Amino acid sequence: MSAKILSFMNEKGGIGKTSFTFNISWELAKRDYRVLLIDLNGQEANLSYFCGLDDLNSQFPARNDIDTICEVLRGKRTISDVTIQIKENLYLVPANNDVEHINQSAGTKTFREALNKAREAYDFIFIDVGPSTNWNQYMTLACADYIVIPMQPNVASLQSNIGASQSIVEAQSEINPGLRVLGILFNEYTTRTNVSRFAMQQAELQAEKLGTTVFEHGIRRSVAMSENPQLHEGITDYAPNSDAAQDARLVTDELIERIQEAEQR
Ligand SMILES: Nc1ncnc2c1ncn2[C@@H]1O[C@H](COP(=O)(O)OP(=O)(O)O)[C@@H](O)[C@H]1O
Ligand SMILES: [Mg+2]
Repeated sequence: MSAKILSFMNEKGGIGKTSFTFNISWELAKRDYRVLLIDLNGQEANLSYFCGLDDLNSQFPARNDIDTICEVLRGKRTISDVTIQIKENLYLVPANNDVEHINQSAGTKTFREALNKAREAYDFIFIDVGPSTNWNQYMTLACADYIVIPMQPNVASLQSNIGASQSIVEAQSEINPGLRVLGILFNEYTTRTNVSRFAMQQAELQAEKLGTTVFEHGIRRSVAMSENPQLHEGITDYAPNSDAAQDARLVTDELIERIQEAEQR
């Protein structure tokens, strides 16, 4: 086993990066893949929250009392030292605010080495980052194998894709020549409005420039997805018959297919 390292990345917040990371990982784990989640977004630690780590009623201690990705980036712990099991096949390296004080250049080298050691124990490693172009995006672009660009079907999202694309192209030429874009993936997907159809056409053009395509499947807007963060359970388990769960399963299928295709090239 040697895990593929992926990240959902876009410079806009509230677009579904953490939702995709959590729900697709959850579904992959259900399918018997071993998945590691890494929360690198210390300011919000949203992924840790999705996983139930910061919930008063959860089985976990408050996140300030436990070792996190910070200790890994400082070279004091390995990834396996700080990994917490969320459910069968699904594991988390949590974050807290402290991660904002990491030295970027030292941290990147340490992070890459730590990830390479962790690869053998997993099929997939997902890194969740914050919205802005800061050190945690830089580090992820330096260490990942694949980036997926999530977007919503609107003009603001198209604009933020341009920034994300530039960062990716820069990373490919400067720090990580093997980095590949798996596709642009729609969240809150709909074909009902003119603006969404416009956004989809434009997204195809943006994808072409990055040598990729738009995912055929996306996740529709739904109440179940908006409830998702505080339930600490993947959509395919807590609302398995919902449209969003059906979408999440199709996106997972497509993600696996796209990785398999990319690996054969
Ligand atoms: N398809 C969807 N339908 C409804 N709400 C959604 C959907 N996807 C995400 N959300 C909600 O939108 C908010 C932002 O999503 P999140 O994944 O945290 O975005 P990001 O990580 O890009 O900042 C969350 O409250 C989430 O529950
Ligand atoms: Mg997020």
